Formats: sequence, C-alpha cells, structure tokens
Amino acid sequence: MRFILLGAPGAGKGTQADFLSARYHIPKIATGDMLRQAAKEETPLGEKIKNIMRSGELVSDDIMIELVKDRISKPDCQNGFLLDGFPRTRAQAQALIENQVPIDYVLEIRVEDEEIVKRLSGRLIHAPSGRIYHSIYNPPKIAGQDDVTGELLLQREDDKEETIRKRLGVYHEQTQPLVDFYKNLAKTGFSNEAHISVQPPKFLTVSGLGTVDEVNHKIVSLLEV
Ligand code: AP5
Ligand code: MG
Repeated sequence: MRFILLGAPGAGKGTQADFLSARYHIPKIATGDMLRQAAKEETPLGEKIKNIMRSGELVSDDIMIELVKDRISKPDCQNGFLLDGFPRTRAQAQALIENQVPIDYVLEIRVEDEEIVKRLSGRLIHAPSGRIYHSIYNPPKIAGQDDVTGELLLQREDDKEETIRKRLGVYHEQTQPLVDFYKNLAKTGFSNEAHISVQPPKFLTVSGLGTVDEVNHKIVSLLEV
C-alpha cells in the first residue's frame, strides 16, 4: 500500500502515520523528521534547513524532491510506504506524477485552525524515533519521558504560537490546494497526453476531531470497506 497523508500542521498526520505504518507494515516517510535530522548537521545546508524550519516556511522543492526520490528508492519501500508531509506544493505533487510513482490513496485529515493551536502547544516529541505525545490528549506513561526508551521528551522549536500561525498560513496557501487537485485527479484521471502508466490515487477524507483512537478507527474503516 502506498499512501500520501495530507493535512494541516497538527492535524495528526504523524500520529496516524505511526499506526498505519505498523498496521500495514510499511515505512513512514516523514519529511519533517528527516529535515530535523538534517538540521542537526553542522554544515551550511543543515544550518539553512534549521533556519527555514524555525521560520515556519517551506524548504525548497528541489531539496525536498531529491530527498524523497532517494528515500522511496530504498529496498524497504518496495512493498509500499506512507508519505507524511510530502507533497506540500503543486511542484512536489507534479514530481511524483512525472516520476510515475504509484500512489494508492491520498488521505486528508481535516482539523480547524483553533484546535490545531491547542494540539501543537501541548505536543512533546521523542526526537530520535519521532514518537509523538501530547501533555493532555496523548500523555506518555511517565511525564516527560518516552514510553519505549525512557529518554526525555522535547517541545519542537516550531511549536511556538507565532510560528504555528505562520505554518498554518503557509499550509492554507501552498498545500491545501492539493486537496482539490487530488480530488479532481481521482475523478478525472490523468489526461491522455500525459503518458502516465500508473493509476491515479483514490482520494479519502476524514475529520481529525475525536480521540486519537477514534480517528484511527475512522481511517481503518474507510480503507478496509
Ligand atoms: P512537519 O514535521 O511535517 O510538520 P507539519 O506538517 O507542520 O505537521 P506536524 O508534524 O506539526 O503535525 P502532524 O499533522 O504530524 O500532527 P501530530 O501527529 O504531530 O514539517 C515541519 C517543517 O519541515 C515544515 O514547517 C517545513 O519547514 C519543513 N517541511 C517538511 N516537509 C516539507 C516539504 N514536503 N516541503 C517543504 N518543507 C517541508 O499531532 C500534533 C499533536 O496533536 C500531538 O501532540 C499529538 O499527540 C496530538 N494529537 C494527534 N491526534 C490527536 C487527536 N485526535 N486528538 C487530540 N490530540 C491529538
Ligand atoms: Mg508530523
């Protein structure tokens, strides 16, 4: 199975991607997690990525497309993968099509902006694994510690209210148009002139409101009809 998860920052893409990746035995490819790793490198590129992420803007399409092309060519992606956070622009979506990357489902998770601010201001992450918690909605077993390793949990640098609002603006402007793009593609397919041999992805949409388990059940019931 090959998925794209679409949704605003804080909609729960990463949280649901963890479940789906375990359920369908496919790797989660979270571009944000990959960039956070790259940002740790003390190189000019690492520094550049860190500054862009701090500002809430998007990293350039060229960098992102190369990063994802390279990742999905790895052997563990042969039987499927889950893209969390890619594509985020029309150019990124176009690159998947031009490279004839087969995608079975585009799944949109919908959550209103005000709920997102609440979610992101309480989010905690275990940086080495990307595991995601929330101080109230999805707390770790021991406060401040990762359930698996016991290591300390951190707040993401871009989870400050001002940056959250910036990221939401960027989402509405650059990524949300992909919802209609994929909805239409599922209906009309690729144009004949495009010479694309893969099938267009099916489009699914789900409300991200409710508990983590409730959202998870809604997604699984859409996928396993
Ligand atoms: P990225 O890391 O992808 O961040 P994002 O899209 O802003 O999304 P988030 O990770 O913030 O939210 P999420 O939807 O995964 O929610 P989560 O499950 O954590 O990207 C970061 C940056 O990297 C970007 O700003 C950009 O600069 C760059 N970047 C990445 N990809 C790029 C690309 N393709 N092109 C260019 N630049 C790129 O949940 C959030 C919180 O809510 C958690 O605390 C969780 O526990 C809680 N929660 C989840 N579900 C529920 C629920 N049902 N009820 C209550 N709480 C819940
Ligand atoms: Mg995420």
